[in-house]
Amino acid sequence: MAGIRIRGGRPLTGSVPVSSAKNAVLKMMAAALMTSGRCVIRRAPAIRDVETMAELVRSLGANVSRNADGSLVMEAGIVTCLEAPEHLVRRMRASVLVMGPLLARFGRVRVPLPGGCAIGPRPIELHLRGLRQMGARITEERGFVEARAGRLLGTEIHLDYPSVGATENLMMAACLAKGTTVIRNAAREPEIVDLQLFLNKMGARVRGAGGDAVYIEGVDGLSGADHEPIPDRIEAGTYMVAAAITRGDVVLRPVIPRHVEAVTAKLRETGAIVEEVGPDTLRVRGVDRPRPLYVRTQPYPGFPTDMQPQFMALMAIAAGASIISETVYTSRMKHADELRRMGADIVVDGQVAIIRGVRRLTGACVEASDLRAGAALILAGLAADGETVVEGIHHVDRGYETIEDKLRALGADVWRVAEDVPAAGGVPLVRR
Ligand code: EPZ
Repeated sequence: MAGIRIRGGRPLTGSVPVSSAKNAVLKMMAAALMTSGRCVIRRAPAIRDVETMAELVRSLGANVSRNADGSLVMEAGIVTCLEAPEHLVRRMRASVLVMGPLLARFGRVRVPLPGGCAIGPRPIELHLRGLRQMGARITEERGFVEARAGRLLGTEIHLDYPSVGATENLMMAACLAKGTTVIRNAAREPEIVDLQLFLNKMGARVRGAGGDAVYIEGVDGLSGADHEPIPDRIEAGTYMVAAAITRGDVVLRPVIPRHVEAVTAKLRETGAIVEEVGPDTLRVRGVDRPRPLYVRTQPYPGFPTDMQPQFMALMAIAAGASIISETVYTSRMKHADELRRMGADIVVDGQVAIIRGVRRLTGACVEASDLRAGAALILAGLAADGETVVEGIHHVDRGYETIEDKLRALGADVWRVAEDVPAAGGVPLVRR
């Protein structure tokens, strides 16, 4: 299994470029299905999830290409299929976000129910309930969901939980509905505000994103748009922790400081120094040993669940005992087992972990179970004595653009290990 090999113990120093937000770009690609116009998404990261979404929209008949400047150009003039292929939905849950757009534009869509994943069951009943309220007739059978509708009708929807995906799917569906839709108890993530910007550039009439209610006034048609998505706040947070865990000194840009406020606050609580050194630039310096924390994940603007594994790695070397409570997912603690292989002292009870910091972790061969768990293990390897091999690097490649190049530019001793190379020591390594 392909992996990344890390020789730990080096403080990271220098500056790291932050890519555009994965969890914004994927939704904009889905939204582009609602028009035959030309959509340009600038600085789209070269990551597996973007390639998967490109494969998905191509399978529906849309054209997607990448310009030399890294922007994605998408034109869904001809959509020949209204069914999302099962293997792509299984590979990436975000595939279900084509439901709202296809139903709104063509009145029909068929998608496989997304399976669970390493971090828990990933149901979509909030998405489906909202679409039914807008007049869609939805059947679920043999693991597939089929939705049909004449023109969707604007209505008032109250989400039981501020689901990011449900908010986005329903926002997009409502853009072409007849009348006005209000989504209450909506998710407030920055990627949703960015999606609102993109949709309005397409000619939609959306307002309120970022608050707890989003208002969408349906229009008869949409056109193309040209947009540069926000920087990836989770990638930025990951490199902020990389600076802290290696006692380094790292400058990140572009980053929107407000989007990483919860991460900044918690890093400062550990004793790390986080400074805004420019309107879109942060500097993070680590201290000898981080102070312990109590972290409880919540929907935005609370502490992000997508930063929970990375903070568990940091707390593994804290000077004291920390508690992490994961409230968003039911089983997002698998990385604790792998961190224990590196000498971490962690007890997990359901969705709560108690981490007793140790002075040093030791390198080991560990395996990523999902995207952010893989990032956490890489961070632990950067801090550990000796060599760590993080297998299952394909999970990390889903959301981190050229991670080993960015880390190497900060002074890390990391390189990619080719497929089928046993993790045992002494084997020839492939430097990319
Ligand atoms: C988005 O997933 C992100 N993915 C996730 O990031 C992120 O962890 C999550 O939001 C929370 O911030 C993308 O944007 C592509 P949810 P999403 O709907 O939309 C439950 C990463 O690492 N739920 O807010 O799937 C659900 O099971 C990924 O980049 C229902 O029960 O998140 C989960 O426990 C991982 N029923 C919780 O809500 C529903 O109908 C949050 O899910 C929908 C969701």
